[in-house]
Amino acid sequence: MEQRRAYFDHAATTPPDPRVIEAMLPYLTTHWGNPSSIYDEARQARKGLDWARRTVAAVLGAKPNDIVFTSGGTESDNLALRGVAYASRQRGRHIVTSAIEHHAVLHAAERLEQEGFRVTLVPVDRQGFVDLDALAEAITPETTLVSVMYANNEVGTIEPIVEVVRVVKQRNPHTAVHTDAVQAAGALPLEVDTLGVDLLSLRTSCTARRASACSTFGRAHRSSRRSWGALRSGTAAQEPRTWPALSAWPRRSSWRTKSSMRGTPTAARCVTSCSMSCRRACEGRM
Ligand SMILES: Cc1ncc(COP(=O)(O)O)c(C=O)c1O
Repeated sequence: MEQRRAYFDHAATTPPDPRVIEAMLPYLTTHWGNPSSIYDEARQARKGLDWARRTVAAVLGAKPNDIVFTSGGTESDNLALRGVAYASRQRGRHIVTSAIEHHAVLHAAERLEQEGFRVTLVPVDRQGFVDLDALAEAITPETTLVSVMYANNEVGTIEPIVEVVRVVKQRNPHTAVHTDAVQAAGALPLEVDTLGVDLLSLRTSCTARRASACSTFGRAHRSSRRSWGALRSGTAAQEPRTWPALSAWPRRSSWRTKSSMRGTPTAARCVTSCSMSCRRACEGRM
């Protein structure tokens, strides 16, 4: 008797779509250059990277330079949590997240707790929905970040992110809101302005049969090109609304070394999404 296998774990990852493989091949063979360099291989890689950035930005309703590519969802979540926590640490050391977050968020929060931050875990109901009253109660003037996932990876609950943002901003307009949208790609609306979030982590391999490579996008303040760099390194101690203008930021050698991490921050937003390798596959499908 013929045995057939069926794969039912697409929420964990998907097999690569042949179109994704085809789209990636040029970047693994001929366009392998460092996109920051000046020779032909590099310029082709740069073109692909820029294209991917524009595509991802369009999906999110964001600016291309707000996108910073990362290695995956875990790195993006860590970037969001640790970046905001350290960048805003002079304003407050309190972070709020939900009890049903992915370990990428929960472990990052635990680590921050070990490093002296206060973390509040907001409970959820039987269906996994975040308790909005408890969330409101948890926010204090010292709360710099709230992280609530968009779609849960175990039970599939879709959290009311627009409501979460409303509740948080009512209590403290300076608190940044991050959502882990790793399970939402390809299934739910992702426009950051509609959601109202300040940071969003996205991975494309879970739901959309795209390349598994990921990226991070970030913008931190309209007046500062470099505030996203500061968010990444946690070196910006200033309150985001008062971060100084570009000219006032100290130069950091790392800011310009990795083109894949480059960004032109304009607001406290960060999104993770697919890399240039899936650019063609993304076309018309995101
Ligand atoms: C909701 C959620 N967040 C974060 C992650 C971590 O993503 P990655 O495996 O790309 O690090 C996952 C992985 O499945 C996830 O489902």
